[in-house]
Amino acid sequence: MSERVIGILGVGHLAGFLLEGLRSGGRQDRVVLSPRGKAKAAALAERFAAEVAPDNQAVIDACDVILVSLPAASGRGILSDLKFRAGQTVLSAMAGTSSEELLEIVTPASAHCTMMPGYANALGIGPSLLYPANEVCEELLGRLGPVHIFEDKGAFEAACVFGAFSGASFVFMQRIVAWFEAQGVPADVARNLVAETLRGNAEVVRTIDQPLDSIVEGIATAGGITWQCVDALDGEGALASWSGALDAVNARMKRGMD
Ligand SMILES: NC(=O)c1ccc[n+]([C@@H]2O[C@H](COP(=O)([O-])OP(=O)(O)OC[C@H]3O[C@@H](n4cnc5c(N)ncnc54)[C@H](OP(=O)(O)O)[C@@H]3O)[C@@H](O)[C@H]2O)c1
Repeated sequence: MSERVIGILGVGHLAGFLLEGLRSGGRQDRVVLSPRGKAKAAALAERFAAEVAPDNQAVIDACDVILVSLPAASGRGILSDLKFRAGQTVLSAMAGTSSEELLEIVTPASAHCTMMPGYANALGIGPSLLYPANEVCEELLGRLGPVHIFEDKGAFEAACVFGAFSGASFVFMQRIVAWFEAQGVPADVARNLVAETLRGNAEVVRTIDQPLDSIVEGIATAGGITWQCVDALDGEGALASWSGALDAVNARMKRGMD
């Protein structure tokens, strides 16, 4: 069991998911939370046996590893007011902050960036990205799901766009569930049906060693309902618009979340 002290700066939605995932398997590391949003910090501290620090600097002073889940737009400014020390590891989940920017702010601590879906990480099944590689970060992220370590900064930054894809997939499910419900399918059946379908199909994509083109060919009967659905979506520009939406998110993250 690790003796390290873990700090979390920015105690909002993601921090709740992180705490739940980090505590999986009964892990007992000392965890120190930043105090802003007192009610939320206190509730999470009680639920996950963590402490609430008096201020942000007290989190840094008490911890070996600091997870940063501050707001993407203001996080860099908030970190700039804090003093880090050599030997500390800072892991930022903030969208749009590059590892170079982070290192400049937190030096002499080491700086690493991640991206993750959030909610699935609380269940220990959400993938996360890590750049650059670091054993401490890898161990912590490994408690939250599979970890993909990047050596190439450009590929890492492009992969981070999956955070938006992940969130959008919930909205996609929400819309499809609502459509089934509107046709009279009971709400619980509609919800399970959509989730089970995507879960099963995702497992095919994840585990079957076959090119995606060939999987698609195998599941779509010529002239059948899959092609009808895909053609209708394509005719509305719905499929092409995914690329455009991801391009736009990528561009915004590169600009630093203005
Ligand atoms: N939500 C996710 O699933 C998810 C997934 C991947 C990455 N992320 C990234 O994680 C970050 C946080 O996202 P979130 O959804 O958790 O946002 P959130 O719920 O708004 O949480 C951010 C927290 O930071 C606090 N905060 C603001 N200013 C602060 C300061 N000066 N000192 C200390 N704490 C401060 C906020 O407190 P107040 O409420 O008092 O302002 C809030 O509790 C973002 O950068 C986002 O890109 C989120």
